[in-house]
Amino acid sequence: MPEPKNQNSKLKNPAPPAAGLDFLRSTLTAPLSSAEVALRPLAFGDFAGQLKTVERLKVMVGAARRRGEALNHILFSGPPGLGKTTLAFILGAEMGRNVRVTSGPVIEKAGDLAGLLTNLEEGDLLFIDEIHRIPKTVEEYLYSAMEDYRLDIMIDQGPNARSVRLSLPKFTLVGATTRAGLLTAPLRSRFTLQTRLDYYDTATLLGIVRRSCRLLKVEIDDDGASEIAARARGTPRIANNLIYFIRDFAQEKAQGRITKPVAAAALELLEIDARGLDEMDKRILRVMAEHYAGGPVGMNTIAVAVGEEADTLEEVHEPFLIMEGYLQRTPQGRMLTAKGYQAIGLKSAGGAQGSLL
Ligand SMILES: Nc1ncnc2c1ncn2[C@@H]1O[C@H](COP(=O)(O)OP(=O)(O)O)[C@@H](O)[C@H]1O
Ligand SMILES: [Mg+2]
Repeated sequence: MPEPKNQNSKLKNPAPPAAGLDFLRSTLTAPLSSAEVALRPLAFGDFAGQLKTVERLKVMVGAARRRGEALNHILFSGPPGLGKTTLAFILGAEMGRNVRVTSGPVIEKAGDLAGLLTNLEEGDLLFIDEIHRIPKTVEEYLYSAMEDYRLDIMIDQGPNARSVRLSLPKFTLVGATTRAGLLTAPLRSRFTLQTRLDYYDTATLLGIVRRSCRLLKVEIDDDGASEIAARARGTPRIANNLIYFIRDFAQEKAQGRITKPVAAAALELLEIDARGLDEMDKRILRVMAEHYAGGPVGMNTIAVAVGEEADTLEEVHEPFLIMEGYLQRTPQGRMLTAKGYQAIGLKSAGGAQGSLL
């Protein structure tokens, strides 16, 4: 299911069938747990980091409220777990409007979209997660809905076919995507603001870890919190998941208190290394070094070799590995860097096939 847990949201569409939902497979893209809702910031004041994005949003919210109008359409992009859904709900709360939630793959026909849009009230927000997965045939209906607040849909078939014009309330479309590059230009250009979320630095994550521990009443010392922040892959959702696991670990093995050695031992059990790289990250680096001499090698080839969907590698793993300088994208394919070799305890191969660094 797409993330439906907000009390304001009424999902118009039924849950999608399990088949074809490979995008839900990784923990990062999994549906919201109630645990996640408990830690979700509800106002700009609780939301750490992403300063530029937040500043842009505050300007838009302030202006829309002063004019008494609906917020303009907004697109969030960036890797999973960085706060796209959270920000959509914060926008609803700051505007004092409902947020209806759906997701790209769930909207199969123009009729599904019509159902969602006609049930909105003036000023409501429609949040479409994974918006790059909306079928192209449906996407075209979004253009006029976003621009002119109307929907021309065909009803009946054959000689009786006719087009019906529905006028829609002035609503705000908030889109989220892990793959902004897959959005068509006409759709993208209809968002007044397109803003990208980045991985969080360790200092900001430390603040998020402290806040989560406070809300969960977890006992943790400064070094324990720093250890989690440093190894959370720049991602608040991962930091929170680590806190849940390490809390259990501490309860079972350390009288409930999280210190640096306790956090380190728990992370070791999860096979998360000192840099925050997980099993799959390291498998990718190892396959590149050992089977492809450090590259260049295509993502589909790597995906087959590590047994994961290429989409997941591109959305979840690759952005972090590139940002941290473990691998590089070149026109010929992905290349392992010297840092990438180091991360798996190897020296770079050198020579023509070796690292660029
Ligand atoms: N800036 C932030 N400050 C505090 N917690 C955050 C922040 N961004 C995300 N989170 C936490 O991480 C979780 C995942 O965020 P979410 O908005 O679902 O990510 P996305 O939609 O981008 O995959 C949220 O439940 C929230 O608890
Ligand atoms: Mg989300």
